[in-house]
Amino acid sequence: MRLKVLGAAAGGGLPQWNCGCRNCADARSGRLPRMTQSSVAVSADGRDWVVLNASPDIRAQLTATPELWPRALRDSPIAAVICTNGDIDHLAGLLTLRESQRFDLWATGAGLGVIEGDRVFGVMNPDHVARRRITLDQPFEPVPGLRVTAFAVPGKVALFLESDSPDPQRLGEETVGLRLQANGRTAYYIPGCAALPDWLVARLADGDLLLFDGTVWTDDEMATAGTGTKTGARMGHLAISGPGGSLARLAALASRKVLIHVNNTNPVLRPDGPERAAIEAAGWTVAQDGLEITA
Ligand code: MLT
Ligand code: MN
Ligand code: ZN
Repeated sequence: MRLKVLGAAAGGGLPQWNCGCRNCADARSGRLPRMTQSSVAVSADGRDWVVLNASPDIRAQLTATPELWPRALRDSPIAAVICTNGDIDHLAGLLTLRESQRFDLWATGAGLGVIEGDRVFGVMNPDHVARRRITLDQPFEPVPGLRVTAFAVPGKVALFLESDSPDPQRLGEETVGLRLQANGRTAYYIPGCAALPDWLVARLADGDLLLFDGTVWTDDEMATAGTGTKTGARMGHLAISGPGGSLARLAALASRKVLIHVNNTNPVLRPDGPERAAIEAAGWTVAQDGLEITA
């Protein structure tokens, strides 16, 4: 199974257009590599590809990824797109994929509800783009040889769908993780996750590879950085550090572990910092745009 990280950053990217934090400033000046927003491509055979989440940056991501270039006059190696939640950083790229090109669009009922409830997504011509509904915990094959199973993980509805008091750890169709299986290998893709209860940690144990939510290092990171007031928990993202953080909770997993969906405020982005040293000592790496992984 081949995976390519198209975009390693969380919503906003690095740099984020209106952010002057240290990481964003360093990305503008070239001291840190820039990162586009959350997306991964996966293939069982290196020929047909499935894009996991359609980022607002998808046009630049596809341009930078030769595997996803047309092989004929009008063509795309992208056979399917799967969306794991309704966030802007995971849906807005669908608007770019609108030139009457055939592919399957997979999402849960909740995800399809967002897409079908907004007429602007009608620009993806339904004659060419088949809407395919994902049933939780039921494997499907978006392309031959790649088996995908979506499962609920604790999370929150998309920001633009929030009510007055959204449940930040809701378990349902709104936020899913993906189990990817091909050629006898198993990978997990979970770009958003608000908590790691025991059942979820146990579920991940059979993976060869884990791509996991690396949005924030500490729960209060946005406030500490002065960029906002929301905690990671309120945004539906479990912090990496701390006693209940993902580093501690997933310490026993034997799989290759990679942080994705990393927010621009996260100190783990600094290659010479103590946070990077800590995750590397624990067997994790931080994804970069263009990172290729053979699982
Ligand atoms: C998130 O992952 O929490 C969202 O992408 C945030 C947002 O919508 O900006
Ligand atoms: Mn996001
Ligand atoms: Zn920033």
